[in-house]
Formats: sequence, structure tokens, C-alpha cells
Amino acid sequence: MLRLVTFALLACSSLARPSPRAGYVLHEKRAQEPSGWTRERRLEPDYVLPLRIGLTQSNLHRIEEMLLDVSHPESPNYGKHYKPEQIVDTFAPSDMTVDAVKAWLIDSGFSDDRLSLSVSKGWLQVANASAAEVEELLDAEYHVYSHPSGAEQISCHSYHVPAHIKEHVDLIQPTVHFDHSANRRQKQKRQNGSKDLIQSHLRSGKTLGKEVTVPTDLADCDTMITLDCLRALYSVDYTPVATDKNTFGIVELTPQAFLQGDLDLFFGNFSPSQVGVSPVLVSIDGGVAQTTEQGFNENGESDLDLQYGMGLTNPQPVLLLQDGDLVEGGSFNNWLDAVDGSFCTFDGGDNKEFDGIYPDTRRGGFDKPESCGIIAPPNVISVSYGTDEASVTLAYATRQCNEYAKIGMMGSTVLYSSGDDGVAGNGGECLSTSNRASANGKKFNPGFPVDCPFLTAVGATQIDPGNTVDDPEGACEQVIFSGGGFSNFFAMPSYQADAVTSFLTNHPPPFTSAQFNNSGKVRAFPDVSANGTYYSANYVVAVAGEFELVFGTSCSAPVFGSLITLVNDARIAAGKSPVGFINPAIYTDTFAGAFNDITHGGNQGCGTAGFTATTGWDPVTGLGTPNLTSLMDIWLSLP
Ligand SMILES: *[C@@H]1O[C@H](CO)[C@@H](O)[C@H](O)[C@H]1NC(C)=O
Ligand SMILES: *[C@@H]1O[C@H](CO)[C@@H](O)[C@H](O)[C@H]1NC(C)=O
Ligand SMILES: *[C@@H]1O[C@H](CO)[C@@H](O)[C@H](O)[C@H]1NC(C)=O
Ligand SMILES: *[C@@H]1O[C@H](CO)[C@@H](O)[C@H](O)[C@H]1NC(C)=O
Ligand SMILES: *[C@@H]1O[C@H](CO)[C@@H](O)[C@H](O)[C@H]1NC(C)=O
Repeated sequence: MLRLVTFALLACSSLARPSPRAGYVLHEKRAQEPSGWTRERRLEPDYVLPLRIGLTQSNLHRIEEMLLDVSHPESPNYGKHYKPEQIVDTFAPSDMTVDAVKAWLIDSGFSDDRLSLSVSKGWLQVANASAAEVEELLDAEYHVYSHPSGAEQISCHSYHVPAHIKEHVDLIQPTVHFDHSANRRQKQKRQNGSKDLIQSHLRSGKTLGKEVTVPTDLADCDTMITLDCLRALYSVDYTPVATDKNTFGIVELTPQAFLQGDLDLFFGNFSPSQVGVSPVLVSIDGGVAQTTEQGFNENGESDLDLQYGMGLTNPQPVLLLQDGDLVEGGSFNNWLDAVDGSFCTFDGGDNKEFDGIYPDTRRGGFDKPESCGIIAPPNVISVSYGTDEASVTLAYATRQCNEYAKIGMMGSTVLYSSGDDGVAGNGGECLSTSNRASANGKKFNPGFPVDCPFLTAVGATQIDPGNTVDDPEGACEQVIFSGGGFSNFFAMPSYQADAVTSFLTNHPPPFTSAQFNNSGKVRAFPDVSANGTYYSANYVVAVAGEFELVFGTSCSAPVFGSLITLVNDARIAAGKSPVGFINPAIYTDTFAGAFNDITHGGNQGCGTAGFTATTGWDPVTGLGTPNLTSLMDIWLSLP
């Protein structure tokens, strides 16, 4: 016992920095050092750092309230969405914030002519800042880290700001966010593209990898889902009429790309009038629907999303938001920048570990400025990729999550699939007690961005083997486990408080607070799932020239997105607004009858059976699976 204490004290004193300078407070700190990197030496004092300060936006404390104001069906402003200019005006950092941060910099010896403000006012840049100046300014120590590959990296472990400045700053770069671009370049040689690094953080569909014969009969829906199965399951009997006014976007991360031959093969069998029809390509940061590399890993996700998204909403043109060039790939901030120029961080703020950074001067890279505000946010946006919450910092996740709220305020529905690994994270990994992903971890590992309370998380269900579309479905547990659980970052939004409290009170899960945050005060997901068991398992998809069976929650986001697109079509045809952020509506009693409650199945992981689906909302299937007829009726009755 005594030895333990002594050891702990020793370890502490050797790592601890002197307490922050008087009047300063800690602003950000890395949870742990990235594995594989060694702290080599202090950074040379005259090294010039591209210092950028992300300023706190105005009104963020009211963002949930403002989002609910236009999204809650009982609000008098329901459906009265914001215009992009109103979003800019509402959230631009206040003059007080800009002035306070400028005054701090000027007092610290940076002359006014070295400071410049980005167009959106979101970022303040400091020219020619030396390491010595930045260390003094931020009460931080910069080190050079090295990698066995020979790559080097500059970073500090934590940084501080004066107490009166803290509230004016979201995050400062470059600081604790470890920049892996060097590592990526090295990977590029081996794997032809640092996109592999980004991709390795992301989840998408999985395949059974066997060629199948095309089914013709609804009786086969338990083994093979087709467009007709989905139409039968969700009572889909609606043909869009307002296609020139409505928009539906599907995000794909390069090198994932569709093949026209696959779409035609699929449509030839299941939707003949669409043979030859392509999605409308929106190229973001050099995004191309590449055809050089082919196979399930390159085409599976994109083919699946487009075959079902286009098939279910025919004849609605579908926008393909193709994210990132062939060298770097792309991620979530790239499409967010593209639909909201005021969010655009081309002058700083992206995290190179996750986001493409432009201009990219490497060979084959996208050597132009980042795509900012090149397209209005589509009415529905479906994304079937995700990462683990624990792999990003809170400040980074929060800045991005707030952006989803802004997109909702502008009238778009953002859907993320909830993951395929149950309560575990990507690759089935769970968290250690220090929140590090590890093969031996016991703590549940929630996903990001699906845990953000300002978007809609879509889980999966499947038809149990041997059952038909007329039997009650179970949560998806044959080959994948619907992602679901509780965030370690985000507070519980008011719209789900009753549903989640009721779950925790009436069906307390057999886990401790060491496994998940059971305080009843955090965001829980998913919100919905695709018709339980039916939605996501065993989709028939044409990939690289043949039909395969694909499973994963990947399938559920584009399918749910298709249904919301049909609802929007009907509302637009009736002279109404698109539905926008749907969560505040669907958790109300009005919508209770519009979802089939899924009451069996679980989402195992981390050495446990996971949570269990039950009556009412649960962290496996959310509110349940949709009934389009009923959703249509309710949404058409709203203003
Ligand atoms: C930054 O340093 C460069 C090179 O010394 C100089 O040309 C430039 O004017 C400086 N910029 C500012 C804003 O001080
Ligand atoms: C890398 O990919 C590009 C385009 O996809 C291809 O032209 C090139 O031959 C590939 N290089 C290697 C080394 O595989
Ligand atoms: C759970 O979340 C609440 C609210 O954010 C927080 O106060 C509490 O510390 C968290 N519990 C654990 C065990 O992390
Ligand atoms: C969902 O599946 C169940 C069978 O489990 C079926 O009865 C129901 O009709 C389906 N929902 C919709 C909206 O079609
Ligand atoms: C779907 O909703 C409609 C209208 O409320 C209802 O008539 C129908 O029975 C529902 N279908 C299922 C499968 O619950």
C-alpha cells in the first residue's frame, strides 16, 4: 500500500508541470500521447508556428433552444427555418470576444498588424509567431515528437489562457491536436493514399462476400432485402412529385465511389426505369467518383447507398456529396464546409488526423482552396460513416456538433448510421479506465458524430432468420450489432429526456457507471432504426459487377433518409417547409404510433450482452422502425 502511494507520488512529480502562471487556467489537454510517437526534444525557440485562435461564437448557449424553436411541433415557429445569412449573424463571435482576444494578444506583445480575422470572424490568425512567443502566450511547452518512420511532429501536451479569455476561445491551433500528416505520407507509399488512414477510422458496410441469385419474391425478405421488401415493410406507396424543389444528399468519402455499371445492374433487376440514371455529382475538395480501384472496399458503401437511396425516391435526383481527393480522402468537416461557407475552416481549425487539408500540393492532390459553401445544404443528408468519440477531443467534437445544429436550423435532416459493433467502438474495441481504446477495455465506446444530440442517429434491425415481413422483428444481432449507448461528451437534449429517463428507470441496464454514464444526464442514441430487423441486414447490392449481400447499419441511414425525402416531397407539394431536424418531433406523443416499437434483441460488445431492446425507447433500436404512411399523415398535418 505504502509503496503504491509512493510510486504514484513519484510518477506525478516527474510528469507535472509547474502550476499555471498566475491568472491563467488550463484550456485543453491531450488525454494521452498517440501511440508510436516519442517525445524527442523541446522545439527550437525561433521556429515559426501558424497560430490560429478559434473564437467562441455568439449565442452557442442558446443553440439547442433556437434549434427546438424551429423543430418542435408545438412551437409557433415550427418549420420557419433560418437563412444562411441569419446563421452567420446569429453565431458570429461578438465584437466583445474579438476585442478581448485582440487586446490579450496586443498586451502580450503582438502588434496589431500581425493579427487578421477570417471572413466569418470565426478565426483570428497571428502572423510569424515564434515558438518562444507562443509558449509564453499560452503557458505551454512545445516538443518535437518522432516516429520510427523518421517522421516528426510538433505539439504541446496542454495549454493555458488567462482566466478572463477562456470564455472567448473555443480552441487554439496548433496545440494538442496531434497532426498525423507525416504518418499519412508514409502510409501513402505503402497503401497508395493517406485516405487509408482516414478510412481506417471510419466504419461502413460489411459484406458476406458471396455472390447471390436475385430474389423475386417477398417471401425471401428474411434472407435478402430488396427495394420491394422495404416498400412492403414501410408501407411505401408514394411517387415524388416535387423533385425540382426537393433535395436529397448522400455523403461518400473518397475513395469509396459508385460504379455506373453496378447501378445499372441493380436497377435493371429492381427499378428498370432508372437504368442509365446517375446521381448528381457534387465534388467537394477534389472529390471524384473514381473507377480505378474496384471491389467491395472501394464500391460497396457507395453502391449500396445510391442503389437504395435512388431506388426508393425515384424519380428524385440524388445529390452525391463526394468528399475528398484521391490522395487525402475527406471527412465530416469537408462536407460541412461545403454546405456552410461560414463554418469553413480553410484558414484553420480542421484536424489533420481526420479532415482533409487543402490546398493539397502532393501529386494528385486537390491543389485549390477548400470547397466552402459550394452548395446549399440538401433537405436530407445521409452519412454511413463514423468514428469513435474517444478518438477526438471534446473541443473538436463540440465545434462540429454545433454545426449540425446550424444545419438543422436551416431546415435539413442530418442522418448518421449508428455503427455495427454494438456498445463497442470501431473494430470491436472498448475503452480502458483512462478512456483509451484497447482490446482489453471494459468500458463502452460510443461513436462520433452519431452521439451528437443535434443530428438523428439511425440504428439497425433485421428480420430474424426464418421469419417473414409479417413477423415482429428483432434488433440486428445475427452478423452485426446495432450501435447504441450513452455519450461521454454531450449532455442529454431536452427532447429525449422523458424517453431516456423512462428507459433507465423502468428497465435499468445491468451495468455500472464504470461501463457507461448512467447518470441520466447524457445524450443517448440511436433515435430510430430502420424497420427493425428488416432494415439493415442482408441487402442485395450490385457491387463490382455482381450481386452481393451487404449488412451493417450503413444501410439504415440512406433508407431512413429516403423515407424522410418522400415526406419532404409531400410537404413541399403542399406548400410547406421540409421537416428539418426531426428529433424534437419524433419523440413527442404525436409520433408514437408512427414507429413500430422493437422489443427484442440486444447490441452485445465489450464482453457483455449489451443493452436490451424493450418497450418504448431503448439504446438499441431507439424509438423503433418507421411507418411511412403514418409519418406522412402526421407531418402533413403539421404547419
Ligand atoms: C512575416 O515575416 C515575413 C518574413 O520575415 C515578412 O516578410 C512579413 O512581412 C511578416 N508578416 C507580418 C504580418 O509581420
Ligand atoms: C496509385 O493509385 C493511382 C490512382 O488510383 C494509380 O494510377 C497508381 O498506379 C497507384 N500507384 C501504386 C503505386 O499503386
Ligand atoms: C456522467 O455525466 C454527467 C453529466 O455530464 C457527469 O457529471 C458525470 O461526471 C458523468 N459520470 C461519469 C462516471 O463520467
Ligand atoms: C415493420 O416490420 C413489421 C414486422 O416486424 C411489420 O409488421 C411492419 O409493417 C413494418 N413496418 C412498416 C412501417 O411497414
Ligand atoms: C402504418 O400506419 C397506417 C396509418 O396510420 C396504419 O393504417 C397501418 O396499419 C400501419 N402499418 C403498420 C404495419 O403498422
